[in-house]
Amino acid sequence: MSPMIETRGLRMSFGGVRALEHLDLAVPPGEVFGFIGPNGAGKTTTIRILATLLLPTGGRASLDGVDVARRPRQARRILGYMPDHIGIYDDMRVDEYLSFFAAAYRIHGARRERVVDDALILTDLDGKRRDPVRALSRGMTQRLGLARVLLHDPKVLLLDEPAAGLDPRARVEFKELIAELRRQGKTILISSHILSEIGEMCTSIGILEAGRLLYSGAIDEVREKLRGETGRVVRIRVGPTDERGKRVLLDLLRGHPLVAGLRKDGDDLLLRLRPGVEDPSPLAAELVREGFALRHFSEEEIGLEEVFLRITKGIVA
Ligand SMILES: Nc1ncnc2c1ncn2[C@@H]1O[C@H](COP(=O)(O)OP(=O)(O)OP(=O)(O)O)[C@@H](O)[C@H]1O
Ligand SMILES: [Mg+2]
Repeated sequence: MSPMIETRGLRMSFGGVRALEHLDLAVPPGEVFGFIGPNGAGKTTTIRILATLLLPTGGRASLDGVDVARRPRQARRILGYMPDHIGIYDDMRVDEYLSFFAAAYRIHGARRERVVDDALILTDLDGKRRDPVRALSRGMTQRLGLARVLLHDPKVLLLDEPAAGLDPRARVEFKELIAELRRQGKTILISSHILSEIGEMCTSIGILEAGRLLYSGAIDEVREKLRGETGRVVRIRVGPTDERGKRVLLDLLRGHPLVAGLRKDGDDLLLRLRPGVEDPSPLAAELVREGFALRHFSEEEIGLEEVFLRITKGIVA
């Protein structure tokens, strides 16, 4: 499948500052792509080029096969861009604000009303339609920003740090909104410098550092790859035992051929399995056979922060 978002050898310099160095990105249709990188990595620069707001110094960028530098008007119909700072139109009401932008997209008459209504409902702002924009909370303002870029029903959404500053509840709501947009078939790029903030929403990630892509691929693949290299981690908990039982348990696990390492975590034990061990269940069977009451036995997810640190460490150092 040809990519919905693509850059080839993209370069951008601001005077002496090289913001992007030969960036190749390819995001297939329907993906939620997490564009991750520290401050100054070049995320906003890439997004602004894709959004036709900045001409690259070199290379190409396209959306659904449309070259954004050569055919910006056509590209703008495909994309919805949410900047990292949304301009505030303080005196407008929420519905007026959306209507204003719909007009800018040349959507008129009854269709404009419908489009505004749809966007308000989708982003759960219908109850706030007569409120002034300035009265919205941070999470609501972000949703309004998203409502605004949905008005012309773009295939591609470019969201620059949309989850920044959201409280946990607003983040959950935002995550649901992204899932809904994904179900509608949109291709979504979300930038952030905090992996865990967007990790759960994304199907794939690209990690950018100093204008270069360190890694790009499916999130599950990254996790799987790390598991293969470093060994899976299993969390176990057994019912109360006496001192002797505890000693037997530790001896059994420490000497076990599947286990590479062992660490306490509160009442739990975290076991790192030897690299290449795929199935930890014989271990569970053995514990039960030895008479331990197994209360918990599960494989740990590798946190995205860990993924990020390992990737950057692996390639940079
Ligand atoms: N208009 C500009 N003029 C000069 N330098 C710029 C300009 N825009 C960006 N830069 C530089 O380009 C580099 C990349 O900046 P960019 O804003 O793309 O990073 P970012 O990944 O979005 O960072 P952040 O996480 O802080 O938003 C930085 O070194 C920045 O200083
Ligand atoms: Mg930025």
